Amino acid sequence: MNRFAVMGYPVSHSLSPRIHCAFGDLVGRPVSYERREVRPLGLATAFAAFVRDGGRGANVTVPLKGEAFSLAQRVTDRARRAQAVNTLYYEGDTLAGDNTDGVGLIRDLTVNQGLVLAGARVLLLGAGGAAWGIAGPLLDEGLAVLAVVNRTPARAKRLVAVLDDERVYLGAEGAAAGPYDLVINATAAGLAGDLPALPAEAFAGAVVYDLVYGPAAQAFLAHARAQGARQTVDGLGMLVEQAAESFFIWQGVRPPTAPVLAQLRSTA
Ligand code: ATR
Repeated sequence: MNRFAVMGYPVSHSLSPRIHCAFGDLVGRPVSYERREVRPLGLATAFAAFVRDGGRGANVTVPLKGEAFSLAQRVTDRARRAQAVNTLYYEGDTLAGDNTDGVGLIRDLTVNQGLVLAGARVLLLGAGGAAWGIAGPLLDEGLAVLAVVNRTPARAKRLVAVLDDERVYLGAEGAAAGPYDLVINATAAGLAGDLPALPAEAFAGAVVYDLVYGPAAQAFLAHARAQGARQTVDGLGMLVEQAAESFFIWQGVRPPTAPVLAQLRSTA
């Protein structure tokens, strides 16, 4: 049996089982996919137990992506750049770690939303794990500008320094002031029922994307629409696309994502 799981805390509302089972049915490779609630520092034990139970790999979510990065014996370049792993799998006897979040976002933006990222001016809100995971893949798409703004400026400064790219600015310094083509919310503010602070003009005419989906994204996206955003998108497409890439890593088959995304949207 193709047995997989998502590990993190909380995971009780994770849509990953539904997504992976739908992929498995679509490509004729049924999977068993479960949620395993794992608290910080518990990943090594939980993953070993899952493998003993026949598990072939796992997705790892908040707050364990850094732990998964340490646990993996070999990591891909994109995981190293993100300093985070969301997909664990075996290559022979070696436990390998990859990160599919960045490619998931890029596919959602370019394929599902039809955005052209080459030459785009992008504002990134946040400088935590999620922002680290997507900044490099975004730059690879040929952005003209990536401005980074964070509640705690020192963290944004560190991200800008690590990216070490002449297209990247600390937003507050003004060198990369708007207008922006794309604004991405990579903060956890919505999960706490807050809005990240931002001048109204940042949204005017922009496509505004929130990495989270469902109710946690709605206040921010409604605010962006009220401030003149051209289009607003939540992170459900990114969730499905990162899952598809994990499925491909595990199974060697790329599942179609559009029917799964449409089904999730229709029942959301
Ligand atoms: P994640 O892995 O989700 O990125 P994280 O590494 O804890 O989690 O980072 C959370 C991000 O959301 C940070 O950019 C954080 O800002 P700080 O660096 O100032 O903490 C941001 N964030 C969390 N709550 C926020 C709020 N209420 N308003 C604005 N930004 C917030």
